[in-house]
Amino acid sequence: MFSQPSPSTDPTPSITFCGDPSAVSTGPDASPNVLASEVDQLADALAARFEELTLIHGLTQRLASSLTLTEQSNQVARSLLDELAPCIASSILAIHLFPGAGPEESTTDRSAMLPLRYSDEIFEIVGHPIADSELVAIVQATRAKSKQRTGDSEGVALVNDLQLGNGNRLRAVVVPIHRGTTSLGQMVAIRTVDQPEFGTIEADMMSSTSTMLAVHLLNQQQYQQMQGMFESMIQSLASALDAKDAYTCGHSNRVAELSFQLAARLGYDDHALANIRMGGILHDIGKIGVDDSVLRKPTRLTDEEFEQIKRHPVLGYDILKGIEQFRPILPAVRHHHESWDGSGYPDGLAGNDIPRDAQIVAVADAFDAMSSDRPYRPGMEIEKVVKIFREGRGIQWAADVVDTLLSLPNLQQHS
Ligand SMILES: [Fe+2]
Ligand SMILES: [Fe+2]
Repeated sequence: MFSQPSPSTDPTPSITFCGDPSAVSTGPDASPNVLASEVDQLADALAARFEELTLIHGLTQRLASSLTLTEQSNQVARSLLDELAPCIASSILAIHLFPGAGPEESTTDRSAMLPLRYSDEIFEIVGHPIADSELVAIVQATRAKSKQRTGDSEGVALVNDLQLGNGNRLRAVVVPIHRGTTSLGQMVAIRTVDQPEFGTIEADMMSSTSTMLAVHLLNQQQYQQMQGMFESMIQSLASALDAKDAYTCGHSNRVAELSFQLAARLGYDDHALANIRMGGILHDIGKIGVDDSVLRKPTRLTDEEFEQIKRHPVLGYDILKGIEQFRPILPAVRHHHESWDGSGYPDGLAGNDIPRDAQIVAVADAFDAMSSDRPYRPGMEIEKVVKIFREGRGIQWAADVVDTLLSLPNLQQHS
């Protein structure tokens, strides 16, 4: 066993490794001095690797806690550059994401895809602030020179003596950002020749962080695709209900929009607003399970038919409850026909036992039901609707939600 003791003042971590000592010697006849020198070299290499792994571990922890799947790709790249730059100590550290690398691939803002620099300190080499096109040209020249030497045009390109057109020299490392066969962009670090040469440590750290970025970007893309599919599914469910109940066509989307407006005025944050909009779209989805003859009946319902209609909140709840993403809207779906005085259905909840989303959707639902035209009757006059809400304030509906509804400018536009 060989060990390299580490004085308490030495920041280099103590390295201990086990195994056959001949594995690090040049042969059985190696002198003790040669052996000691090799051990020192190996210890240095291991210390450097340990430092690299420590940095990558720290980087991973910080990025994992700060990145979200809804961030723009250039924000993700910026966070990564901020973390990596102190470890690489280069004059320029930049990421160039190709169009389509991030979740916002349909963006019309092409500047989002321009190289992101951490710093821009090679003015004296190129003679002026470096332009994006010049940075891209340096990347291409580095790749070309690396390919001449290694024959590899795809992997990491490391050139410590890159000559520019004006005769000045640079050091550069270019690392591809890719996942499998999907090429997402590249990361480049540049140093002046009076700075130390780049080595495998810098290249490995850049490769590790590029892989992290690639995984994150692809996760984002998949998340966005799933989100798109989910939203399409919600609209398909709403359309299926509209097709079944033509009399109330558009009701779901109008209730969603009005619920959103009310919730925004009642202090909901963006996340809660998105949920209540989804709840509004799907609040009556349980009507899919109600007989068409009952649903479409233009005349007064019998008690038995009304009992059937009254089952739709629980039917909707049962349809949606098995899907994790619908969990936040279950209270609105199940309880939008509860009444503030406890006389509603299906559970007879009263007052603030009624979930807040359901209190809001209930007001939006009743407003749309009263005010919109139906094939068999015109919508009520807005004055009559307002009178009904004033009378039902604190009896059928939450008082503050009714107040919010009645304070909406251009209330008539919602009818
Ligand atoms: Fe309903
Ligand atoms: Fe409704």
